[in-house]
Amino acid sequence: MLRGKEILLGVTGGIAAYKSVYLCRELTVRGANVHVVMTKNAMNFVTPLTFQTISGNPVTHRMFELFRGPEIGHVALADRAHALVVAPATANILGKVANGLADDFLSTMIMATRVPVLFAPAMNVVMWESAAVQDNVRRLKERGFAFVGPAEGELACGVKGKGKMADPLQIVEALEGVLTPDDLAGETVLVTAGPTLEPMDPVRFISNHSSGKMGYALARAAVRRGARVILISGPTSLPPPLNAEVIRVTTAREMREAVLTQAGRASVIVMAAAVCDWRPVAMASQKIKKRSGAPPSLELEPNPDILKELGRNKRPDQILVGFAAETHDMEKGARVKLAEKRLDAIVANDVTAPGSGFHVDTNEVVIFTASGERIGVPRMSKDRVADRILGLVAKLRRGSQKPSWEPEAERPEFWEEG
Ligand code: PMT
Repeated sequence: MLRGKEILLGVTGGIAAYKSVYLCRELTVRGANVHVVMTKNAMNFVTPLTFQTISGNPVTHRMFELFRGPEIGHVALADRAHALVVAPATANILGKVANGLADDFLSTMIMATRVPVLFAPAMNVVMWESAAVQDNVRRLKERGFAFVGPAEGELACGVKGKGKMADPLQIVEALEGVLTPDDLAGETVLVTAGPTLEPMDPVRFISNHSSGKMGYALARAAVRRGARVILISGPTSLPPPLNAEVIRVTTAREMREAVLTQAGRASVIVMAAAVCDWRPVAMASQKIKKRSGAPPSLELEPNPDILKELGRNKRPDQILVGFAAETHDMEKGARVKLAEKRLDAIVANDVTAPGSGFHVDTNEVVIFTASGERIGVPRMSKDRVADRILGLVAKLRRGSQKPSWEPEAERPEFWEEG
């Protein structure tokens, strides 16, 4: 998403400026061309040389150093950029921008730009909570400036509270959100992710290899596109996506209950979870002891097919997307699931292909739609695959394609709400 993007990084004078070095690195690693603008006070914390080395671009800090012939530096730089992020943003810069002051390069550039501006505030908790700062933040938000953080935690001044600059990765995520069209604004997107665990006794279970990465990428992508996001997650070790409501479950039956409870609120449902098809018939209340002789036999029974149930009871305005994890006959398997589960689209992945399927950070998929489209998505990061899938969802929502399934006359109660 950030590849080829021109990003302006404004650094102001706070101790969190050292974290902006990591931010600069994360942005360049993702392929952005970063131009750093520092205030005079920022240079008391980090040197321009550090940012210059990381970004590969000269660092600007003097008001008149960027004049090139007829070009006026701050205007030229601001015009070329895709977005401007100010991290850390001190009470001082927020106050200046909120009150229309432009007395240094950074504040002048913010005033001169039409591109989206994202502030990552960092300051002492008392300053952050002060009426003046809160008033300025409110005014800036009303004027369309975006904010990420501040977070709570132990501050550099030794006090605990709100005022820590957001983590650099969260700032990257927020910046990607700022750069993405809000084409799912007003939608509530329910995403499922990760595996389910089906216990046989208090210490053992059957499950699968899902890490949750694909589903979490979908949840992040939906947030970026402006949707309200409910993520129903099986057990994973992933950090929760920013601004998503996360509901944690363990078994397929718990996932079913959570999905059916939330489905009435959702206008889009994407089932990326690897739900176990079977579970042990009985769960022993105590650990099954290893005995000499034959190991215990495991009797299984089927789990509910959540997606099939959703398909049967789909509202006419709801978009339903499933996944198909296949090891062979991928296209045939996916088309059967698309029809049987009455989906608007299914995302098929061959989980045996290198760089595809479980655990890895990339995926290669083919999307089949109910209206007969076949969209190949070559191997790319799960974040980008998620964006392609949600791009299709946004297109379906715009009504350029109509789902082919007719809704059923009778629906259970949970569909009535929302
Ligand atoms: O989590 P990662 O490590 O990133 O891996 C990603 C992934 C491989 C798990 C993901 O890309 C994927 O393919 N998810 C679907 C896995 C799966 O269960 O596929 P399936 O073909 O068995 O199921 C078809 C669809 O029915 C899926 O949308 C599934 O969520 C749903 N299903 C399946 C069984 C069941 N009992 N209830 C369901 O709702």
